[in-house]
Parts: sequence; C-alpha cells; structure tokens
Amino acid sequence: MRIPARGLPREALFARLEQFRSRDVDWRSGRTWAYVYDAGREAEDVVKQAFTSYLCENALDPTAFPSALRLENELIAMAAAHLGGDAEVVGSFTSGGTESIFLAVKTARDHARVHRPEIGRGQIVLPETAHAAFHKAAHYLDVEPVVVPVDPTTFRADVGAVRDAIGPRTILLVGSAVSYAHGVVDPIRELGALARERGLLLHVDGCMGGFLLPYLAQLGAPVPDFDFRVPGVTSISMDFHKYAFAAKGASVILYRDRALRRHQIYACAGWSGYTVVNTTVQSTKSAGPLAAAWAVLNFLGDEGYLRLAATMLETTRRVCAGIEGIPGLRLLGSPDMNLVAFTSDEVGVFHVVDEMRERGWFVQPQLAFNTSKENIHLSINPAGERWVEDFLADLRASVEAARALPTGENVAALRQAVAGIDPARLSEEDFAGLLGFAGVEGAALPARMAGINELMNALPPPMRSALLVEYVNQLFRQGEDAA
Ligand SMILES: Cc1ncc(COP(=O)(O)O)c(C=O)c1O
Repeated sequence: MRIPARGLPREALFARLEQFRSRDVDWRSGRTWAYVYDAGREAEDVVKQAFTSYLCENALDPTAFPSALRLENELIAMAAAHLGGDAEVVGSFTSGGTESIFLAVKTARDHARVHRPEIGRGQIVLPETAHAAFHKAAHYLDVEPVVVPVDPTTFRADVGAVRDAIGPRTILLVGSAVSYAHGVVDPIRELGALARERGLLLHVDGCMGGFLLPYLAQLGAPVPDFDFRVPGVTSISMDFHKYAFAAKGASVILYRDRALRRHQIYACAGWSGYTVVNTTVQSTKSAGPLAAAWAVLNFLGDEGYLRLAATMLETTRRVCAGIEGIPGLRLLGSPDMNLVAFTSDEVGVFHVVDEMRERGWFVQPQLAFNTSKENIHLSINPAGERWVEDFLADLRASVEAARALPTGENVAALRQAVAGIDPARLSEEDFAGLLGFAGVEGAALPARMAGINELMNALPPPMRSALLVEYVNQLFRQGEDAA
C-alpha cells in the first residue's frame, strides 16, 4: 500500500474509517465487560469536545503553552488531594498506567544510583499480582524484578514473603490498589511499615483503583487504606483513563515530595537543537488528553463520581452474588472494587468465554499463574446495571454448554513438544508447530479461542511470552493483505 497520489474526499475517508470499525467489539452496547470505561454519552461528549479543542496544542513546552501547565497543575493538585496528599505531594501527567509505573521505577533506580551507588543493579520486589507494566519497566530500565507469592485465598500480597525477598540490592517495594487480576487492595499499611523499617521506597499502583476507591469508601464500602495517609508510601500511580472516564492517554504519577520527583525528570542540553527537559517519557505531545481529563473531572465532580460509583458497587454486588449462585462457578478472592475474577473446577473456563462471546458478551480470559487458577475477568461499568439479569442468565447457559466440551486434550503432547524448545530462540516453524496443537494455522485467529487459550495456559510463562511475541510479529504485517 502507498500514500494515494491524490487525496480522498472527506466523506469517502470518514466512511472508510467507520467501515474499518465494523469488526471491533461493540463497547457502547454495555455488553463488553473488559477494556472499556464508560460513563455514558454526556460525559463522552464533554471528553471529546475538550480533547479536540486542545488536540493541536503541544504540551512539550509549558512556556509556549502555559495553558497546558495550568491544566496539568490543576489536575495533579486534584489527584493529590483525592489521594490524601499534603502540600508537599507533587506529580506529573502521563500517557497511561504503564508510563506512570515506568517513571516510578526509573525514579527508584536513579534515587538509588545517587544515594546507594555501591549496590549496582537494583531489585524491585513484586507480588505476583503486580501489573506486567512493572516487569516491562524492569526490562527496559535494567532493574531486576523479584516476584513473591500472594495469599492463595485472598490474592493480597503476602507481607512476610515481601520481607523475605528484601536484600542488599532492593530499591523498591510495590503494592497494588487494586490488582487488575482479582480487584483486591494489598496490605499497604503493613508494606508501608516494612518500607520505613528498611529505609525503602514503596510504590502503590493505584492505576486501576486509585480514583474510584475513595468514592467507594465514602459510600461505606470497606476499603483498606492505600494512599498518602499511609506512612511509608512514597509514590502512587493513578489512571484517569480508567474509572475517572477520561480519554485514553491520561494517568498521573505522584510523589511524596519534590526531592524524589527530581530523579524522574530528564534534561539534555548536549546537542545542537532546542534544550530538552521532559518530566515524562514523551516529548512532543498533544494537550488533548490533559484537557479531556481536566474537563471530565470538572464536569462530573464528586457528586457525579459518587453516583457512578454507587451504581458500579451495587452492580458488582449483584454480579458476584449471581456468580456464586451458578453451579460450577466460584469467585477468586473477594474484590474490593468492581473487578471480578471467577473460575470453575468443573468446566473449562475458556469454553465459557467463547460461549459468552456467541451470546454477544465480551469477557476476558486470564491464564493460570502461580497461586491463581485460570479464570474469567470482568471490569464492570455503570452500563452493566441494566444487563445484570441477562448477563447471569447467559453465563449460566454458557457454563451448561461448556460441560459438554472437552478440555485438556492435547496438553501432554504439547508439553512434550515444547520440552526441547528454548523460548529465547523460538522460530517461526516452532510457532506454527505449537499453534497446530490448537488446530490453528498462521496468525489468523479462530472465532472460538478456547483451543489457543488452553494451549497458552498449559505452557510455562516464558514460552507463553515467546509465542505472544511471535504472534504479534506476524499479526502486524504490512502489505496488500493487511486488511
Ligand atoms: C493495576 C494496573 N496497573 C497498571 C495498568 C497499566 O495501565 P495502562 O494499560 O494504562 O498502561 C493497569 C491496566 O489495566 C492496571 O490495571
């Protein structure tokens, strides 16, 4: 494909854009129970208008665009106050949870380089439920992740295991509020006490829960302490583009004080162009996400968010009770928020995912990992309220349908085939051979994904990662057949 020699008429190209969307999940339907954070049409319109009105402003240079500086300072102040921060707390607006976490890890690394230069390569202690973004940051920043088990019943971090994992090279402890997989808050008070005792930094990943949890607490839900009111917490990440319902590209990283944030900021005067000083990873960046986040917070206000939080809390309660009433299903842990994980000891959950898809629902499969069995994840939106009964009826029917479907048929042969393959050297032929166990050819995915999910589930995590890399390397192919 090449750039067209002559531009297309506007109507034609917008029609094309609409047509491209036709196979995407129908997120506005209220039947997509993962990936989507939707506060309804009115808030969406506000977000869009604010986004487009600042789309072309460049937040790279706050002296040229002081409005971007103002928007950011106001947003950070609101975020800090929301999370119990005092006047010392500072932060930066980032493009998302991954970038916020990346910066927290970089700050810890560079803080250690200044204050403990003798330790060399630092380690970060990660409960196994900590988001993959920490592993990604460690990979990019050459820091070593040390993964520790969580409580197998509650899926909250095991503070004893964290304590045991601390060594001379530890630079950062991590807790989640909430973890993505099970929607639970780690024991942040105990982790804070441990961090203080050992003179370590503690990052709380509030990307998913940081914004909503304070509202749930105001509604009387039993929310464990997790924010700056907890002594020992030195940084918190919180996403606006999840349950603050901002446009994607909106998160914040907050620090206990400015001295700590200094390690995050990068400046370069050693080249021939303009002097570069960046608080975050990006340099040239649209002020659109910033304006959209500012607008939605001001549009909904505490009152609007409390209303939405109450709806999601009640919907989650009904969904959890419904799941517990379906023979063959059980919840994993007890969520502190509107994220739910459930599994089955009787039927293949990946078949349940497919059956739900056939009934028009999008739910998310999660693979087994250490203490967590393979399961189904739900992220519940306000729009879920009107669907609860239909959802539960279809879930019940999906579980019954899954009873008739075989699971684990090729697992022994697959494990044998994989035994001789080094994940670091997985070839295209190995990839094709392994996918063959799921009856799949090439990177075109089948409508029913249970075969692939079962295959992935049976493999060790390094081999899963290698297969994913190969899959994506083939998926993003450029050429005439790319459509
Ligand atoms: C707890 C948690 N941390 C971090 C992230 C990463 O955020 P993002 O996808 O915005 O980079 C997520 C995403 O769902 C999350 O749930």
